[in-house]
Parts: sequence; structure tokens; C-alpha cells
Amino acid sequence: GAPSASADKILVIDEGTTSTRAMLFGADGVLLGQAQAPITQHYPAPGLVEHDAAEIWALTLRCAREMVALAGGAAAVACIGITNQRETIVFWDRRTGEPLAPAIVWQDRRTADLCAGFKERGEEPGVQARTGLLLDPYFSASKIGWALENWPQLREAGAHLAVGTVESYLVFRLTGGAHLSDATNASRTALMAIGASGWDDGLLDLFGVPRAILPEIVDCAGAIGTTDAALFGAAIPITGMAGDQQAATIGQACLQPGQTKATYGTGAFVLTNTGRRLPQSRHRLLSTICWQLSGERHYALEGSVFVAGSLIQWLRDELGLVARSADSEPLARSVADNGGVYLVPALSGLGAPWWEPAARGAITGLSFATGRAHIVRAALEAMAHQTSDLKSAFAADGADWQTLRIDGGMVANDWMAQDLADILAIPVERPGFAETTAMGAAMLAGLGAGLFATLEQASAMRGAVAQFTPQMPGPVREARLAGWSRAVRTVLEGA
Ligand code: G3P
Repeated sequence: GAPSASADKILVIDEGTTSTRAMLFGADGVLLGQAQAPITQHYPAPGLVEHDAAEIWALTLRCAREMVALAGGAAAVACIGITNQRETIVFWDRRTGEPLAPAIVWQDRRTADLCAGFKERGEEPGVQARTGLLLDPYFSASKIGWALENWPQLREAGAHLAVGTVESYLVFRLTGGAHLSDATNASRTALMAIGASGWDDGLLDLFGVPRAILPEIVDCAGAIGTTDAALFGAAIPITGMAGDQQAATIGQACLQPGQTKATYGTGAFVLTNTGRRLPQSRHRLLSTICWQLSGERHYALEGSVFVAGSLIQWLRDELGLVARSADSEPLARSVADNGGVYLVPALSGLGAPWWEPAARGAITGLSFATGRAHIVRAALEAMAHQTSDLKSAFAADGADWQTLRIDGGMVANDWMAQDLADILAIPVERPGFAETTAMGAAMLAGLGAGLFATLEQASAMRGAVAQFTPQMPGPVREARLAGWSRAVRTVLEGA
């Protein structure tokens, strides 16, 4: 007879800033296949970044269907885990699921003045105390307020308007109408009181966001929803959901307080698990929900850097300094040092710990001896420099790192991984399987579907790691950091 498929595979949807992916995992953590499609980036004016949510949905569905087919049909898929670019905000019509406006991407700076105005009115301490976040255009709240003010079709939609971050839009489309957000994604909107409760009336008021347009906040694992049977041939339960940086923290098995990961994707995001304790940063770091299970919240301290892999893409696509991103490694190795060149990648302002939306990038120290290799090397070095600034802020907040677990597209570059260990002066660990974001979503989904009893048990999915140990002489390291500080100061003074 026909082979009967047992439902033991996990489908992960990883909707990132630059691409959407679907990945199929076995419950043992083995990656069985993946499908990927790039997301169109719309830059209507300097500082503005938009996505088309209809495109995101169409590509996500196409990739997911490819993986369901690979699994041998929906019956072979035990569960779905969703992870996503955070903060990016989608506006849609509840009747059709169709977007009513462009999605405003987390990198978008259009609300810089709005946020500066709130800051001048002394709102930041109150916002920080409740949300763990700062007044910066990065977070969703000011973007929602701006859109409701400036896009009349949203007001005209009245009760039909639904608003949510990307996971929330995907769940709406996948389930055919459930309006939900998981606690990690909700914690990035600046509309949620993350200590104890949910959407906060004071914050909704401040940013001008009606509660009725927002989703219900749910756990990161459990019976989140069920896909519309028409999509994949049969219904599949959605049992795991988290923002991509939280998912990577879980995928790196940073399950104990103090454990820290850094993901070098489009941007770079460092999260230190702080357990049940809600951290209060005094050094411009963020407090965020790391996961919520059975209503119980675990927290993390976060340093968010806006530009990482996108810098190398820019060197490749706009400046033409490298033909392929991977060429950056041999180029960096081809010179003995940076030749005095520093690159501050403030291409969309500066995030942690500076939070200066008006800052713009700079390349300093150019001379006739500067070649393309020096500039490319300075770009890679900027990753360690930015991370080092974060390490100082974490240390000042009493959460210094002992080791750093790294992942993301950029860390396949051995030179950069070693430079991180050298500049941070701590051991750096890189897992053999670099897709930790997807791994974390698979762990949550498996937990929610009952394939694992605990996250600790699920973390057996994680494989071997490579170690990079610091080797750089102290004076060389200090000179690098001094050169970087000078360059950052120049950028901040110009902002
Ligand atoms: O906060 C933004 C973050 O979630 C984006 O992640 O992987 O697209 O850089 P990534």
C-alpha cells in the first residue's frame, strides 16, 4: 500500500528583512530542506524603508508550500513555527486580509522628529520604565501613530482595520482571520507594559493607537492557531512563534541567565538572557521579553545595531568594492591592518548604545595609501567595534559577557569571527549549524506540539560549535578601539 507519513516534521517560516524562508526540520534538528525568496526593498526617500506585505505573504506561502510538498504532504508536518523581522508594521483589511498601506520597516526613520518631540516633553523615562524600550523610530508605536495620521485610507477603513507586526499578519493569513501576536513581538511595539500586563492605555494614548486595531498577545508556544485547510491540503497547527532575535537566543540555547548571543544578519542584535528578572538598563540598552510560556515571562537585555550584513551588501551593490559578499574575507586578509581607516556604518542612524537617528555613516582616515582592501577590512572591523561598544554598555549594566555565541549570515567569515574574539577579548562560539533563528522557532514549535517537554530538551537539536579564542596583543586592540572611538565621535558631532 501507499507509505503512511507520520507527522514528525517541523515547518519553520523565517520572514526576515531581506528574504523570506521556509525550512523543514526533523524532530532531531536535521534540516531536511529549505526554500527562500528575496523581499523587495522600497526606499521611497532617504531614511524611508517599506515592504509590500502582500508580496511577503505570497512568497511565504510559496516557500511553505514547497516544504510541505517536500515533507510528503501536510499530514507529515507536525507543526509550524513562525519567526520574523521585528517591529516592522503591517496595516490590513480584516475582511480580505489585503494590506491597506505599505508595511513600514524597522529601519525606517520617518518618525525621528515625532520621537524627538516626545523626548523633549520628557516622555522617555516613562516609556522606558513600562516598555523597556527608548523613544526611537525603530519601534512600531510611533510608526503606527504616524500612519494613522497620514494615510487617510486607514481611518476610512474604520472597524475593518487590523494592525500588527509581521508574525501577526502571517498568522492572520495562515489561519484565515486570527489576530494574534506573541509576547516577544508585542514587546517591540512600545505599546506593551512588559513587566506584568499587555497593551498599556497610557502608551496607546501617547502614540495615538486605538486598542481595537491591535492583536491579542499570546504565548510563544502552544496551540496558537491552525492553518486554513485550503492552503496546504490539510490543516497544520501553528505551535511556535517569536521575533527572530529571541528565536536565535533560544536556538543558541541561551536558556540560562547570563548566556549571550549575537546575530549578524541585516543588523546585529545581542541578547543576554536575564531569566525571570526584568532588567532596567542605565546605559541605553533595551529590556525585552525573551519568551513567554504558560503566561510566564523570561526577559533579556538587548543591544540593537542597525547595520551589519546590509553594510557588506551596500559595499557590493552600491560601491562595487566586492563582487560577492564572501570576497570580503580574502580582501580583509590581504592587508596587514586597516591602514588607519575606520568605517562607522550609521547608514540608517545609530542604534545602541548611541540612539542617534540623525547620524549618518562615515569612512575616516583615507590617504593615497588606502586601497579597496582597507575599506572592506574597515567594514568588517566595524562589526567587532560596534559589538565592543555594546559589551561596555552590558558590563556597565552589570551583565558582562563571559563568552559570546555568534550566528547569522556574516559569521561564516572566519576572519570576522576571530576579529570579534580578539576585540572583545573573550571566547566566541559559532555553531556548526548557523541557522539558529530557524532552529529556535523549530524548538518552540516542537515544544508547543508536545514533541519536547521543555526548551532544555528541545535544545538537543543544537549541534557542535567551533571556538575562537582571543589572540590579539593588548596594545593592538587598544589602538583599534581608540581609532574607532574617534571615528564615532566625529559621526555623533555631525548629527
Ligand atoms: O529588530 C529587527 C530584527 O528583528 C531584524 O532581523 O535578521 O532581518 O536583521 P534581521
